[in-house]
Amino acid sequence: GDAPAAEALQHADVNELLPRPGAESDKYRRGVVGVVAGSARYPGAAVLTVSGALRGGAGAVRYVGPAADAVIARHPETLVSAGPPSKAGRVQAWSVGSGLGEDRDRLEDVLAAPVPVLIDADGLRLADEQALRARTAPTVLTPHAGEAAALLGWERSEVEARRLAAVRELARRTGATVLLKGSTTLVAGPGGVRVNPTGSGWLATAGTGDVLSGLIGSLLAGGLEALEAASVGAYVHGMAGRLAPRPAGASDVADALTAAWRDLLRDGEP
Ligand code: APR
Ligand code: MG
Repeated sequence: GDAPAAEALQHADVNELLPRPGAESDKYRRGVVGVVAGSARYPGAAVLTVSGALRGGAGAVRYVGPAADAVIARHPETLVSAGPPSKAGRVQAWSVGSGLGEDRDRLEDVLAAPVPVLIDADGLRLADEQALRARTAPTVLTPHAGEAAALLGWERSEVEARRLAAVRELARRTGATVLLKGSTTLVAGPGGVRVNPTGSGWLATAGTGDVLSGLIGSLLAGGLEALEAASVGAYVHGMAGRLAPRPAGASDVADALTAAWRDLLRDGEP
């Protein structure tokens, strides 16, 4: 029969799901998100992914890779290291791939981790299908139409014409939760398909995808399930796209995430 139509995520659902620190919270309970992104060629991708990760509610952001100096210059609260991700210390979820270049070794090290992993951009191109299938913890993929087409072996135009079918097929084939980016964002997983109701054409600017990858990684580290983290991330990111100054750069969108949270969290919360 026909697959059920995509459901829209509601404001109240997102409010409910946003992680809130309690009196007993500490940075480890809030979650540590690891970021493996950026390269000598694309240091900005590391900075933007970390900027999203810092605004996803995790208790700490750990950056592993060659762009540590750029990351620290912009976000001094980041914990940085240069060795293999598996030796970096405690991490409850990873965001890997934005601007990663050809760094297959770090990617494979992350994919072997028994914690949730979000894979974006270069990570989607480099990820080995077997390594993906061998994963024991949840995986989230965040392709745009071109990246989804490459993964599926479809033409890009076919993905654009059949977005719902594409995101479902990719989730089915990989067993992952898949977030298909574009003018409307769709999220598919074993729990169904969601369509994101927020967003703005002003998000169509280089680097906003990197911010999203860090944001969702942070929500995973905070304990949300894969479909929840991807849906909530898309929703808050879309709100930030509406709240950011115009015309926005990706850094402005990252900065506007805090205003999006403020609008979502109930009044009077400490
Ligand atoms: N309306 C609403 N949201 C949009 C629109 C639109 N018209 N266009 C894009 N977006 C959103 C997407 O949903 C996504 O959240 O903006 C974000 C863009 O993410 P990506 O496509 O990953 O783009 P990004 O990686 O930030 O930058 C573009 O991608 O293909 C590479 O080499 C290319 O450097 C380029 C980079
Ligand atoms: Mg991208």
